[in-house]
Amino acid sequence: MSVAKKQYKRVTVKSLVEMKANGEKISMLTAYDYTMAKIVDGAGIDVILVGDSASNVMAGHETTLPITLDQMIYHASSVIRAVERCLVVVDLPFGTYQGNSKNALDSSIRIMKESGGHAVKLEGGSEIAESISRILTAGIPVMGHLGLTPQSIYKFGTYTVRAKEEEEAEKLMKDAKLLEELGCFALVLEKVPAKLAKKVADSISIPVIGIGAGGGVDGQVLVMHDMLGMTHEFHPRFLRRYLDLYTEMTGAFEQYIKDVKSKDFPNEKEQY
Ligand code: KIV
Repeated sequence: MSVAKKQYKRVTVKSLVEMKANGEKISMLTAYDYTMAKIVDGAGIDVILVGDSASNVMAGHETTLPITLDQMIYHASSVIRAVERCLVVVDLPFGTYQGNSKNALDSSIRIMKESGGHAVKLEGGSEIAESISRILTAGIPVMGHLGLTPQSIYKFGTYTVRAKEEEEAEKLMKDAKLLEELGCFALVLEKVPAKLAKKVADSISIPVIGIGAGGGVDGQVLVMHDMLGMTHEFHPRFLRRYLDLYTEMTGAFEQYIKDVKSKDFPNEKEQY
């Protein structure tokens, strides 16, 4: 049963702003390949994020830093070929936008041209304001990302909750307002106290999509592999697991191996 307040044939950046205005929560999940993106889009998700978390869950790196622009374009173009309805936002990877707005624009243009993605996402506030403005001048929609920004993990040192102290909370609020002023169409708020996240969402007109930011924001995002229970060693408090695919898949693989070894598979009906 759909709980959408309005049916969208295609979700655009404008639809998301409209959803916030109408009090409809926005659903967002990551995807990195054709098959998964087709299932998620078919289920009616509003936004697919081709996240640089692909660096972790697809490539097995410890952080999001190693993934390249070429690799992000590969993942994003696979997703784009699958979707019919949802908006596809693509992460700009580490090193392709910080400190040089021309580089930021060039990277974003490559993503839009070569993958067909609909928007880009960047991590940070005032430090990357020039990059955001320059990307926007080319007509490319930008989603911001504040709070825990995994590309800065070596600055933070840990993946713990951000902005618990007054000073950081104030900077976060200022940055959120700045991203709105610059023209971002939405922002992700990662791992910050729920009270602060709600205050941010209530203070700006663009949608705030939370991950570990409580229910007072305008939408939610999760990493697909986490919510499907494929990454069973990862269990932060904010994560709700909708399946236990790690166990299910292990069982299926074990059964297959057993069937092959015992010559049960293939049987007479499974051959030509
Ligand atoms: O890369 C990613 O998956 C993200 C989400 C955690 C928001 O940025």
